[in-house]
Amino acid sequence: MSSKLINSSKLINGKEIGNAIRTSIQAEVNALQEQGITPGLAVILVGEDPASQKYVSNKQKSCAKLGIYSELIKLPAETTEQDLLAQIEKLNGEEAIDGILVQLPLPKHINEDAVIAAIAPEKDVDGFHPISVGKMILGQETFLPCTPHGVMKMLEYSNVDIRGKHAVIVGRSHIVGVPMGQLLLQKDATVTYAHSKTPDLAAITKQADILVVATGRAKMIKKEHVKEGAVIIDVGINVDENGKLCGDVDFDDVLDTVSQITPVPGGVGPMTITMLLENTVQSAKQKLS
Ligand code: GUN
Repeated sequence: MSSKLINSSKLINGKEIGNAIRTSIQAEVNALQEQGITPGLAVILVGEDPASQKYVSNKQKSCAKLGIYSELIKLPAETTEQDLLAQIEKLNGEEAIDGILVQLPLPKHINEDAVIAAIAPEKDVDGFHPISVGKMILGQETFLPCTPHGVMKMLEYSNVDIRGKHAVIVGRSHIVGVPMGQLLLQKDATVTYAHSKTPDLAAITKQADILVVATGRAKMIKKEHVKEGAVIIDVGINVDENGKLCGDVDFDDVLDTVSQITPVPGGVGPMTITMLLENTVQSAKQKLS
């Protein structure tokens, strides 16, 4: 077998796994529509950040493909916190809207915590509301944050054994790192969080059976950070020195060392959107009862 073929068997293909899950979401959307329910997602984008615009446009396209109604509310960067809160309040009461997503980051003058707290928890398809986060930590049923939830699905589809394994998370954001560790802990991993203040990063990451990297720093994880046979999940989406998309992990450098790895693009990204679609459909299903 050529080394290319051996290496391709190491890939955790988020696009493929995401498509498999989307097929079953599609069936759920069809079943809801037969009962007169169209799931609806409202996405609020404040300002003109190009990366955010791209993410939002991908989310909308994915909704359209599955027959999920989506509404984009584009607000100027100068929008006041008060106006944004009023917009959320309005969407909280709209029957056609099952999910509300405020694209982050928000402009500096707006308090993100206040905005997230204003979203009705039953429409919090991002899983960022303090009530959703609390329930997640307690292992209660709630909307799970899309990226960590997507990573858990990828590990499941790739038959990665989690129980008793050492999972190291690099990055401690509220969107990815922190909830990621909690979900792995609930599946009986031993979890270590590493971050920008961790003195000897390689000494920690080298212990990882499962290494999840979410730092936003292009190709920062190299061969010397990785244990032989580790499973690597790369959450980063960066642009390298040649203008090409790349992750937080130096893919080519670590490929021979790892047992499985997510590529960028085509890894975690498609899974995040898939989980958003799933949460929106789950939210719409509450109308059945
Ligand atoms: N910005 C980066 N990732 C996310 C996400 O998952 N949800 C929202 N709302 N904003 C983000």
